[in-house]
Amino acid sequence: MSEFAEIILEGKSYQMPVVEGSENEKAIDIASLRAQSGYITLDSGYKNTGATTSAITFLDGEQGILRYRGYPIEQLAEKSNFIEVAYLLIYGSLPTEQELQDFSDRIRRHTLVNEDMRKILDGFPSTSHPMGILSALISSLTAFYPESLNPNQSQEEVDLSIIRLLAKISTIAAWSYKNSIGHPVNYPKNKLDYCSNFLHMMFAYPTEDYEINPVVVDALNKLLILHADHEQNCSTSTVRLVGSANASLYSSVSAGISALWGPLHGGANQAVIEMLEAIKADGGDSKKYIEKAKDKDDPFRLMGFGHRVYKNFDPRAKIIKKAADEVLTALGINDPILTIAKELEEAALNDPYFVERKLYPNVDFYSGIIYRAIGIPTDMFTVMFALGRLPGWIAQWKEMRENKEPIGRPRQVYTGATERDYVSIEKR
Ligand code: MLT
Repeated sequence: MSEFAEIILEGKSYQMPVVEGSENEKAIDIASLRAQSGYITLDSGYKNTGATTSAITFLDGEQGILRYRGYPIEQLAEKSNFIEVAYLLIYGSLPTEQELQDFSDRIRRHTLVNEDMRKILDGFPSTSHPMGILSALISSLTAFYPESLNPNQSQEEVDLSIIRLLAKISTIAAWSYKNSIGHPVNYPKNKLDYCSNFLHMMFAYPTEDYEINPVVVDALNKLLILHADHEQNCSTSTVRLVGSANASLYSSVSAGISALWGPLHGGANQAVIEMLEAIKADGGDSKKYIEKAKDKDDPFRLMGFGHRVYKNFDPRAKIIKKAADEVLTALGINDPILTIAKELEEAALNDPYFVERKLYPNVDFYSGIIYRAIGIPTDMFTVMFALGRLPGWIAQWKEMRENKEPIGRPRQVYTGATERDYVSIEKR
C-alpha cells in the first residue's frame, strides 16, 4: 500500500505521497501542495529539500557512508583509477576492459585545445585567479563547439562533448597555472595517462626533462576519485539548475566551477592550509587554537571541520589522512603542518565541545597537505577540486537531461513592501 503524509492546514487535510529511495530514504512529495492548498514549503539553504531523485551517488551522513553507483568510496580509492571512476559515474556501470580502453583513448585524443584558446588565456592579467580563468575558458568552449548549444543533440553528440570536456579541462587547468606564473605552456603528451599528462603539463619545463613520479600519480588518482561526486552539493545543484534551462554542458559546468570557487565550498581546502600556516607561524600551539575556536567572541574559525551532511567522520577524510601520511613518507617530506593538523584533529575529537556538535574533519582538512606535497600551489587547490568533480557534474547534468527534468524554479515567501504609489522625486 502506498504511504502518504497528511498535512493539515487551516483545518483541512491534504495527502502528499511518500517517495522511497533504494536505500530506504523517505521523502514527502509536496509538488501539488500549492495547487491544492495555496501553501508552499520554505527551506532556506535547502537543508531538508530533495531537489531531485538520483541514481548516481549514495551518501549517509549519519553513518559516514559514500558510494558511487553502489560501490564504496574506500574500494574505489584503493582499487580503481580516476578515468574508470569517471566512466562509472557517467555511464552507470564499471567499464569492461575494452570500454575503458576506448574511453581513455578518446579522452587522450581530445586533450589539445584550439590555439585561439591561448589568445584568450593571454588576455587575462597575471593577477587572475586560476578558478576564474577555468570557468571562463570552459564556458568559451561553446564558441569552439557551437553545436553543443543545441539542446536536442543526439546521445552520440553529447558523448563527444563529454569526452572533449574531460580531455580539455586538464590542459586548460594546467595552462591557467603556467600563465599565472608567466611560464610557457606545455602541450599535452597523449601517450601519457590522464594524471601523468596533467602533471607533465603543470610541472615540465621546455628546457628540462620531467620525470613523472608514480607515487604522485597514485596520490593524484586517489584525490580525484575522492572528489568525483558528492550528490546534490552547491556546485552540482548549480550545474543541474543551469542545465535545466537547456544550457549546454560547457555553460552548466562553467557555472558549477564558479559555485565551487566559493570559500564555503571548494575554496575551503585553500583556507585550511592558510589556517595551518598561520598556526605554524604563531608557534604551532594547536591547543591554543582549539580554545580560540570554542570562544564565541573570537573571530577564529577552525577550517576543515564539520560538514552540512556528515554528522560522523567524512569517509573521504579518513582515506585522505592515511594517504597524506603515505605520500609524505614516500616522498621523504617532513611537513610540520601535517603534525599541526593531526594535533588539531586529535584535540578536537577528544573535546566535548566538538564531539557534542559532531564536528569531524572533512575532505578539505587533509587534501591540501597532499596537494602541497606533490607541488600544487595553494591557489590551484580549488582547480584540483574542479578537475576531480567534473565527472560528477557531467553525470548529474546527463541524468537531469535524460530524466527530462523541468526547469528549476524555486518559489519564495515575499517579505517586501506591500503595494504603494510612486512618489515623484521632488516629494521624497
Ligand atoms: C563536496 O564534496 O561537494 C563538499 O563536501 C560539500 C558538500 O557536499 O556539500
